[in-house]
Order: sequence, then structure tokens, then C-alpha cells
Amino acid sequence: MVTDLASMLLKPVWYILPSYFANMSPVIFGGGRPLDMGRRFLDGRRILGDHKTVRGFLSGVLIGTLVGCLQGRSLAGFLLSLGAMVGDSTGSFIKRRLSMEPGKPAPLLDQEGFLLFSMLMAYPVEPLDAWSIIFLLVLTPLLHRGTNIIAHWLGLKGVSH
Ligand code: CTP
Ligand code: MG
Repeated sequence: MVTDLASMLLKPVWYILPSYFANMSPVIFGGGRPLDMGRRFLDGRRILGDHKTVRGFLSGVLIGTLVGCLQGRSLAGFLLSLGAMVGDSTGSFIKRRLSMEPGKPAPLLDQEGFLLFSMLMAYPVEPLDAWSIIFLLVLTPLLHRGTNIIAHWLGLKGVSH
């Protein structure tokens, strides 16, 4: 009974772990040349903005894939990490279209964007049950908030949202 509950909670976290690591890596390893190379979209605003960098994107894919390899699921780990970085960049693309400055918090988009893309990309190789999807959609914003506060304490991030 207790072990059933523990596995119900731990299974989704184990599943998504590469994605979480991917999403945290750019804060530590990011910086330098922006992914959009400084280019602008049709609306005259930056495509993604200065906060989405090549190094951040690649570090996310690399670190997340490494975590997946350690878990013994390298392909799923790679797809989860790539999904996280594509989802994160897509979120920034949407934020720029809404005229939001880089770093400005966008509730839900910031927290669920990378998660949804991760789950979608990895689904073909490792399908996920409905319970786990719902659990992760609830858990992730809570963890996001927690890690942001810690990053703020450590001086890694300018904002504590
Ligand atoms: N980061 C990076 N490269 C990426 C993603 C993130 O270098 N591909 C780094 C940036 O220093 C960024 C920080 O990680 O400021 C936090 O990432 P995130 O919260 O996703 O970006 P925001 O600063 O909120 O920018 P945006 O408004 O574009 O989401
Ligand atoms: Mg942000």
C-alpha cells in the first residue's frame, strides 16, 4: 500500500528527471551568443531574445541526456531534454510576440511549456499514463517556484518568481 503510493509519486518524477535537469542547466551554463543570432521577427521584435542562448540550449540537451543515460534510458532522456529546450524556446517566442521583456514571468507558459514539449517528444518511445501527466502538470509549477527561490538565494537569477 505504502510502496504503491510511493511508486505512484516517484514514477512520474523518475520519468521527467532528464527534462528537469535540462531545464535547470542553462541557468548555470548559459550565456553568450543568442539562439536567434540577434535577429528580429516580422513584428520587429526579437525572435527569442538575448536570454535564449546557444550554450544554454546545448547544455540543457547534454546534461539532460546524460541524466537519461545514467537512468539507462538514453533515447528517452535525449528526447525529453530536446523537448524541454524546444519548449522553453517556444515559450520565449510566444512571450516576445506578446511584447514581454526577457526574464518577465509568464505564468503557466514558463512552467508547463517545457514540460508539455518534453512529454510530447518522448511519448512515442516511452508513453506516459494520464495520472502521471496530471501529477507532473501540478508538481512542476510548484518545483519551479521552489528552484527559482533557491537560484535567487545563490545569486544565479535576478528574479525570485
Ligand atoms: N538561458 C540560456 N539559454 C537558454 C535558456 C536559458 O542561457 N536556451 C539562461 C539565461 O541566462 C536566462 C536563464 O537561463 O536568463 C533563465 O532562463 P529562463 O527563465 O528560461 O529565461 P528568461 O530569462 O525568463 O527569458 P524569457 O523571457 O525569454 O523566457
Ligand atoms: Mg524565466
